[in-house]
Amino acid sequence: MQKITKAVFPVAGMGTRFLPATKASPKEMMPVVDKPLIQFAVEEAVAAGVTDMIFVTGRSKRAIEDHFDKAYELETELELRGKNQLLEALRNVLPKNINCIYIRQAVALGLGHAVLCAKPVVGNEPFAVLLADDLLAGDPPVMRQMVDAYNFYNCSLLGVQDVAREDTASYGIVASRPMAERLEQVSAIVEKPKPEEAPSTLGVVGRYILTPRIFHHLENANPGSGGEIQLTDGIAALLSEQQVLACRYNGVRYDCGSKIGYLRAMVEFGLTHPEVGAEFRAYLDSRNSRAPA
Ligand code: UTP
Repeated sequence: MQKITKAVFPVAGMGTRFLPATKASPKEMMPVVDKPLIQFAVEEAVAAGVTDMIFVTGRSKRAIEDHFDKAYELETELELRGKNQLLEALRNVLPKNINCIYIRQAVALGLGHAVLCAKPVVGNEPFAVLLADDLLAGDPPVMRQMVDAYNFYNCSLLGVQDVAREDTASYGIVASRPMAERLEQVSAIVEKPKPEEAPSTLGVVGRYILTPRIFHHLENANPGSGGEIQLTDGIAALLSEQQVLACRYNGVRYDCGSKIGYLRAMVEFGLTHPEVGAEFRAYLDSRNSRAPA
C-alpha cells in the first residue's frame, strides 16, 4: 500500500466573496488572528505525515510562495532586535523536511481542473487535497484522522459533515450508508443540489484523499457552465469503479470562504489565543454587558 506523502492545495480561485480584500492578495493569506489560512492547512497536512506540499496557484498568489520561503532579511532584523519569540515563530512556518512545489493554473477552470494541474507532480500515487478556506479544528487534526482511515481501507475518502437542508445547494452532497464508526460507504455524489433534490444532508467539506485514478476521470469530465471542471464530477465517475468512503471527521469546521464563517473563526481562535485571549474575552464580556442602544 502506498503512503500518503503528497498534498495538493488548490489556491487559484478568485475569492470573489472577499473582494476587495482579495483583489491583490490571495484569500488563503487572510489571517485568523496572526496565522494565515494556508498555514493552518499546511500544518494539518504535516501532522498527517505529508512531506510534499503542492500548491496550485494563479494570479496574485505570489504572497503564498513568499510566505513559505526563508525570509533572510526579516530573520536578521529580528535577531538584531532580540525578538527571539517572533524569530522562532517565523522559523517554524515550515518544518525542515518539507518540500513546497508550485504549479500555475493559468485560467481558473474550476476545482477539478486545479487538482488535475497537479497530476505531473503527484504521478501515480494516492494524495490528499486540502482547501485552506475550510479551517478545520480537530484533535487529532482532521487530515490525520482521514489518513488513518486511508491506511486501513486503502481507498478514496471525502471529509463530510451534516449540513442544514436549506444549505445543500452550497455543497457536494453524498448518498451513503453507514459502514464503520464515523465512516460511510458512498453510493452517489451530487454537486450543489436543491434542498428538495438532495439525496441526504451529508455535505463534502474541503478535505479529500484521492487515488490517482481521479486524474483519468478529470481528464474526461465534461466542463460545466463557464468551462469549469468540477471535482465532484470526477469523484462521481470514480465511484463507478472504486470504493469511496465519507469520513464524518471529529472536529469543528469554519467556512472561511464566507464572511460569517471567517468572523466565527476569528472570534473562537481569538478567545483561545495565548497572547490576547484573556483580554479579548474581557472585551467581549464588557460589550455584552453594555445595555442595548
Ligand atoms: P471556491 O468555490 O471557494 O471559489 O473554490 P473561490 O474563487 O476561491 O472563492 P469565491 O467563491 O469566488 O469567493 C474552492 C477552492 O478551489 C480553489 C479555490 O482557491 C478554493 O480553495 N479553486 C477554485 C482553484 O484553485 N481553481 C479554480 O479554478 C477554482
